[in-house]
Amino acid sequence: MSLAQVESWVPLLVPDMPAPHELLPWLERMHAARHYSNFGPLVCELERELAQRLNTPSEQLTTVANATQGLELVLQALDLPAGARVLVPAFTFVATATAIIRAGYQPVLADVDADSWLLTPEIAQAACQQIDVHAVLPVATFGMPHDMQAWHRFEQETGVPVVIDAAAAYGSQWLNGAEGTLVFSLHTTKSLPAGEGGLVVSTRPGLAAKVRQLSNFGINLDPTAGLPAGTLISLGSNAKMSEYHAAIGLVSLQKWECHAQKRRVLQADLMQEWQQISGDSLAWQAQGPGGPLMAPTLLCMRLPDAHARAALERACQQARIMTRRWYQPLLQHMAVLQQRCVSLDAPNAQAMAQTLLGLPFFLGMTLEQRHRITAVLEQVLKNKK
Ligand SMILES: Cc1ncc(COP(=O)(O)O)c(C=O)c1O
Repeated sequence: MSLAQVESWVPLLVPDMPAPHELLPWLERMHAARHYSNFGPLVCELERELAQRLNTPSEQLTTVANATQGLELVLQALDLPAGARVLVPAFTFVATATAIIRAGYQPVLADVDADSWLLTPEIAQAACQQIDVHAVLPVATFGMPHDMQAWHRFEQETGVPVVIDAAAAYGSQWLNGAEGTLVFSLHTTKSLPAGEGGLVVSTRPGLAAKVRQLSNFGINLDPTAGLPAGTLISLGSNAKMSEYHAAIGLVSLQKWECHAQKRRVLQADLMQEWQQISGDSLAWQAQGPGGPLMAPTLLCMRLPDAHARAALERACQQARIMTRRWYQPLLQHMAVLQQRCVSLDAPNAQAMAQTLLGLPFFLGMTLEQRHRITAVLEQVLKNKK
């Protein structure tokens, strides 16, 4: 092994972004149209393509600048009472909680299922027995899709609206004929990368149109309303997707199927290899009732205990392999959020925060990188036995 190889870090992830030459024809089109933002031709084309793939009428879908803004504006558009409580998993990325607070509501942190790592309708039902909530914001954890029929039944039984934070779940999370609201991220690390971007899909009448208006400062976008141009209807933000980002999204869309397939194969291979050398001591996220994960973007494992995780982190650090405790600390352990959230018992989330670790996962991982990770895992887990 050369010195250069020894010294280079194995990255945690490598963005799967289109190359400049692939973008060029789209950028030329954009420049010829002299339209760079404000729902230009490329954003409209991306929305048409996505509506077709998601089998959704175009009025039920809108792009946004990112998923965080998408969540915030969807929550605002639901018009919940000020200070309304929104149930959310304790195990998620911080943006799920900050979006709730910035929309003027209060997160209520709930547990997740021990196998699928999802906040399920059953967990939400149990939480509703303990505390009144005005909305539920389940997360498609690491892209694992939810059963939308089950969430639709929950909405019908409780009258509580549900919005799925499907940030990492483009291509995995579908409405599957159910009613529902989904927010996807098109961030550079996600399955359909546009650099930055987001997508809101909702069968709730008028919701996507309202989010679109809120993403345009709150200015009226309905030409039939008979209002002077520029009339402000609601207090929005600027959360429009630019034509540059739409261009990247359109190229990524063309390659999505092929890249998703490669990601599935790589993930299955790595899991099998590492499970074997661990003597079955590792645990992985299980598929939930919402169907399979179609385009994994991360690889997380659960170690047998906190000591094993700490030992693996140290060994990886020494071998120059990047790791990350994804979605940790839990939301209730972040000082900024503590005072602003209600925390319910979350034993599964607490246990995950002791043992979960993300390892490198990206297309183009070399054999040398792969062997280096496997060797470290073998060493740590052998010492453990
Ligand atoms: C669960 C979850 N929600 C929201 C976001 C925020 O997405 P964006 O970067 O598009 O704002 C992320 C990003 O990683 C996420 O993982």
